[in-house]
Amino acid sequence: MDQRAIGVFDSGMGGLTALRELRRLLSGEDLVYFGDTGRVPYGGRGRETILRYARQDVAFLRSFDLKAVVVACGTVSANALAELTAENPLPLFGVVAPAARAAAEATRNGRIGLIGTAASIRSGAYEREIGAIAPAAEVFAKACPLFVPLVENGRFRVGDRVVELVAEEYLSSLREAGVDTLVLGCTHYPLLAEVVAKTMGPEVALIDTGAACAAAAAGTLAERGLLADRVRGGSRYFVSDSTEDFARLASVFLGGGVDGDVERVEIEK
Ligand code: SIN
Repeated sequence: MDQRAIGVFDSGMGGLTALRELRRLLSGEDLVYFGDTGRVPYGGRGRETILRYARQDVAFLRSFDLKAVVVACGTVSANALAELTAENPLPLFGVVAPAARAAAEATRNGRIGLIGTAASIRSGAYEREIGAIAPAAEVFAKACPLFVPLVENGRFRVGDRVVELVAEEYLSSLREAGVDTLVLGCTHYPLLAEVVAKTMGPEVALIDTGAACAAAAAGTLAERGLLADRVRGGSRYFVSDSTEDFARLASVFLGGGVDGDVERVEIEK
């Protein structure tokens, strides 16, 4: 039994898709979320910058008494998880390994599509992980740099011509490659799931990285006897930019109102 909170962070709002799943699976846990909304997106930045930002994000979260940290950002998970894990004496859960496992289990024809930020795709992390689990699988990767800014600006719905045009531009080559499974390799992308499904066709299985990561974290904490025994946990939210903007869009990511206080913090120290 461990009553301490679980920290969750992302470059912005996308990690809320993981937090939502954590809340669903682990209703008794206290959750502390940090969204680096003042510096999003991370996905167009170099590895050194991503690592520096990620270290600051983890250091901020660790000012709370935490038992684990969920790295709910595809870009950070793909580029900095090894360093963060080596530097911090508590369990850190990234999105790459659980999403790779889910994709390897879902594919029937061994053709797996992968979309993510430029930095995630460049890292090769998903290919390495999928290759270790399913060596015969072929991975078709595509960087989609416009998706995160669109989502952060509330543009992700079917019928939005700009979003549908961008999706067609990014995804047509994966559709033509005949992938039967597509890893949404960024925690912002589940909001685009309907647009992606419309573009790829209904038979393509979509892997939600945030949900896969939350399920893996919940399973591991349970196995290690590290869950809290309270009935209802609380949530606190911290951002590095406007709290009003966060609260407005967060309710879309969370599928309901924000269930806790939102505070602004200075992260660049
Ligand atoms: C970004 O900040 O560019 C996206 C975050 C992610 O990769 O999940």
